[in-house]
Amino acid sequence: MSEYLRQTNRKNMAKEIFDKVEAIIVEIQAAQPEGAEAIEQFRIKYLGTKNIIKPLMGEIRNIPNEQKKEFGQLINKAKEVAEEKFAALQAVSVAEAAQSDANSIDLTAPGEPLALGARHPVSIMMNRIIEIFTRIGFTIAEEREIEADWYNFTAMNTPEDHPARDMQDTFYMRGIENMLLRTHTSSVQARVMTTQKPPIRIIAPGRVYRNETISSRSHCQFHQVEGLYVDEKVSFADMKQTLLYFAKEMYGPQTEIRLRPSYFPFTEPSAEMDVYWGLKDETDYRITKGTGWLEILGCGMVDPAVLENCGINSKKYTGFAFGMGIERQAMLKYRISDIRYLFENDVRLMKQFGRAF
Ligand code: DAH
Repeated sequence: MSEYLRQTNRKNMAKEIFDKVEAIIVEIQAAQPEGAEAIEQFRIKYLGTKNIIKPLMGEIRNIPNEQKKEFGQLINKAKEVAEEKFAALQAVSVAEAAQSDANSIDLTAPGEPLALGARHPVSIMMNRIIEIFTRIGFTIAEEREIEADWYNFTAMNTPEDHPARDMQDTFYMRGIENMLLRTHTSSVQARVMTTQKPPIRIIAPGRVYRNETISSRSHCQFHQVEGLYVDEKVSFADMKQTLLYFAKEMYGPQTEIRLRPSYFPFTEPSAEMDVYWGLKDETDYRITKGTGWLEILGCGMVDPAVLENCGINSKKYTGFAFGMGIERQAMLKYRISDIRYLFENDVRLMKQFGRAF
């Protein structure tokens, strides 16, 4: 074949290939795929790994040198047109989907109820106790959890090296002398008595800490409610009557109580109060150790030394005090077998308390 013929041939071939690419560009511009499926087909055909533009690129070897650049540009244009078209198609399809979602909202359908959380059983018990005592004139006193040794122990008639300090294992603050995490809400008694004059009638709910091994029955943090009543002529009989009223409100009008002599450094005489729980089933036997009686709180007449430590004249004033653990009461009331459940915040437990506010 003569050189002339070969060149003419190549030119014709080149024209054919150029025409092909241009036809594809026109085809892309004219395409009107509708719906997600058709748009995906469009993408596969023009932009996918096996798109129809790619094989044309290989044809560049049949293009005369002086036209190669122009051909490369045309191929690039085809790709660009396909990309732009695809982006435009996608934008339209997203907008349409949003529109159809909006259309499908039924404005007449009843609203979805908002899920309300439930109160924690400890809060339920705490609120109940507070409510019972505020009804007879007690006010709430809240105080710090990081406390000075003096308020937690010394003022409460438990000076350093007093053996009763061993009754409560204490977390001391590292590097801060004489500061600790309060081991009981009795510290609030000292805070109140050093700043207020009798008559004093407070209850102090709050969290307390003890350096105890965590088990099903004890935890290193729990809650207490403390009560304190100081005035002229406050008697043991007043205390008993107040606590009987509390027990009946808390556990029902038939509730019986008994006071057992006990020891606390800050009260004299001291007692522990039991309520009669009954012996109806095996669990009752277990939790009351076969007696039917359950210990609920510690109490007593405020030791004159405590009043004096806090600047209150013990010749003129007397008082009673009591303290109780909240988790214990919640566990009894709701028959929760492990105190740790109360600190895990597992919604499966919390949900069972419904919306008992
Ligand atoms: N603070 C005591 C405790 O944590 C409880 C207690 C007992 C408090 C007797 C009192 C009380 O106010 O009079 O075990």
